[in-house]
Amino acid sequence: MSPSDGITRMNVPGPRAQALIARDESVVSQAYGRPYPFAMSRGQGARVFDVDGNRFLDFVAGIAVNATGHCHPRVVAALREQAEKFLHVSSDYYHEQWVLLAEKLNQLRPFSEPARVFMVNSGTEAVEAALKLARHHTGRDNFIGFLGAFHGRSTGALSFTASKTTQREGFGMMPGVTHIPYPDPFRPLLAAQPGDADCGEAVMRYLEEVIFRRLLSPQQVAAVLVEPIQGEGGYIVPPESFFARLRALCDRHGILLIADEVQSGMGRTGKWWAIEHWGVEPDIVCSAKGIASGLPLGAMIAREHISTWPAGSHGNTFGGNPLGCAAALATIAVLQDGALQNAREQGVFLQDALAEIAGRHAAIGDVRGKGLMIGIDLVRERDSRVPAKALAERVAQLAFIHGLLLLPAGESVVRMAPPLVLTRAEAEEGLAIFEHALTLAEAR
Ligand SMILES: Cc1ncc(COP(=O)(O)O)c(C=O)c1O
Repeated sequence: MSPSDGITRMNVPGPRAQALIARDESVVSQAYGRPYPFAMSRGQGARVFDVDGNRFLDFVAGIAVNATGHCHPRVVAALREQAEKFLHVSSDYYHEQWVLLAEKLNQLRPFSEPARVFMVNSGTEAVEAALKLARHHTGRDNFIGFLGAFHGRSTGALSFTASKTTQREGFGMMPGVTHIPYPDPFRPLLAAQPGDADCGEAVMRYLEEVIFRRLLSPQQVAAVLVEPIQGEGGYIVPPESFFARLRALCDRHGILLIADEVQSGMGRTGKWWAIEHWGVEPDIVCSAKGIASGLPLGAMIAREHISTWPAGSHGNTFGGNPLGCAAALATIAVLQDGALQNAREQGVFLQDALAEIAGRHAAIGDVRGKGLMIGIDLVRERDSRVPAKALAERVAQLAFIHGLLLLPAGESVVRMAPPLVLTRAEAEEGLAIFEHALTLAEAR
């Protein structure tokens, strides 16, 4: 049996999807970028269906949101149970799901000190809360961010987002954010010098010897905001010693380390938090996306000793809403009962299989990631590593019409971020469609 047996080209978008898209286009803001005509009707596990009945395998999971897959029975049951009791109560009062979730996140925190948890609705809001707390606690105004980063779209978070100029163009930025290169072992902006352990050391030297000497005193810096694995920037895994160096630098200067785990957290990389792969303890963790399997919820998890802001200094109407908390508690239970382990195992399987596929396709320059956060970097030629941007977009489009949802990231990366409950059979099916799409895209 050839790997492409059973892979059929679908006629998408079908008539119902076309009609829905036409209505959408006349009333929904055009600010959304929508390159795929997928109009969803329902989903179960890693499978989704469109309004014309076409069936897809979902390797996007709402961009790392549907951690437990679509409509996991335990998440749906928790939501039903909570919905019958109450849907909202103001944050002026208390409810148990909120406390239970804060207790749970305390157990899962990636630092030894106890945590204080601030609940929000999204990744952006978790980042905003972290920025405000960092300024409030340190009394300093400035921050360090990274080129290629994505932290959200509200003015504070957007000022750190440096992934595509269209995301920033035409919008005023918050002052006080200095960007430095993200240490990218595949395409380093700052290459390692003789004697450096890796490109991470070159980035740290640039921060200390250039930025901190010529531009900004470290005593003015409240925090460094960093994605442990850069997501929208191209699923970039930093070199081994980077986070230890960054932590040491922050400690030397009294700077807080904020880990944005919105995309990489909640078990996606095979550990609760991606930063744990490097044994480094941040001061604040931002979480959202996968935390509640699709309900809008986020959390800013801070070390107790820095959570010094007084009552009334920050707030949020919907953050900590009972439905989101119930979904999050069920999500964490599903992850603890096997999905986290599964993410590790299927991640190794997918990465090994992709390395084999790379042996058959010169366009694959790099396969990287951890757990089920996997990037396949496509190149024009392996030696130059010039990004094959159009090819990555073609692969995602061709995968779509053959029944696999994939998204590009960075310049030329195809990312795989399936639900953490992905089965081996689904992983194999996804790989077969991916390779088929790549073969077709290369032939064009
Ligand atoms: C690392 C990271 N931080 C923050 C955000 C913003 O999250 P949200 O869209 O939920 O506001 C994202 C979204 O993609 C993200 O990937």
